[in-house]
Amino acid sequence: MKAVILAGGTGTRLLPLTRLMNKHLLPVGRHPMICYSINKLKEAGITEIMLVTGRGAAGSFTGFLGSGRDYGVSLTYRIQEEAGGIAQALELAQPFVGSDRKFAVLLGDNLFEEPLGPHIDVFQQQREGARVLLKQVSDPHRYGVPVFDSQGRITRIEEKPVIPRSDRCVTGIYLFDDTVFSMIAHQAPSMRGELEITDVNNTYAAQGLLEYGELDGWWTDAGTFESLLEASAKLMRISP
Ligand code: DAU
Repeated sequence: MKAVILAGGTGTRLLPLTRLMNKHLLPVGRHPMICYSINKLKEAGITEIMLVTGRGAAGSFTGFLGSGRDYGVSLTYRIQEEAGGIAQALELAQPFVGSDRKFAVLLGDNLFEEPLGPHIDVFQQQREGARVLLKQVSDPHRYGVPVFDSQGRITRIEEKPVIPRSDRCVTGIYLFDDTVFSMIAHQAPSMRGELEITDVNNTYAAQGLLEYGELDGWWTDAGTFESLLEASAKLMRISP
């Protein structure tokens, strides 16, 4: 299986640090944030990885990670010219992923404990569609939040709802089949002018093709100062 790490965006919640450096190169514990995503994929046996990032940061990523050889992976890079949304960044991976394939996507600011291998194995058994991983959180309004039907299936995901309908969030760990690319191609930008990953997942949900798993170990999106600090403390002793 191949994987895509999305490491673009503007990182506005971490200004002024992100004026100096792309969020995913900021230190977490003893390593730049990006190393943990790469390590999680490698741990799951995924070594063919595309990294999507913005124009300003691309040189720093290639300078630091190179071909991926030092990390035991093979890296391919693509540039997202403007931060037009997570789904727009993902669309750039289409030639890399190819057709008739399932693949994994990680948002580069998601840091977590649990190995991905077992979730990927379950997805390999899934005939088609997508699989998201959920995590119980105390602040669901910050994230995509699933709405369930009486059978426990996700009927839709609400992005950053004022009144969350569940205490679980959709993490930035996604497993897709290649139909995701035609979905994105037909998608319109949201009110904030971005191609939203939640709209993509909602298209799968509307077709009855969105499955989910749950993360038991700790998980954080290191996009704020508080969560960055928390992740740093947790990962201080871990060497990716
Ligand atoms: O962390 C999980 C959450 O991530 C989900 O619960 C939400 O449904 C999902 O929309 C996303 O929300 P965020 O507000 O945290 O997204 P953010 O804009 O911070 O971007 C997350 C990652 O995606 C970040 O690591 C950079 C990457 N990204 C983002 C944008 C907007 C790109 O590569 N390109 C982009 O244009």
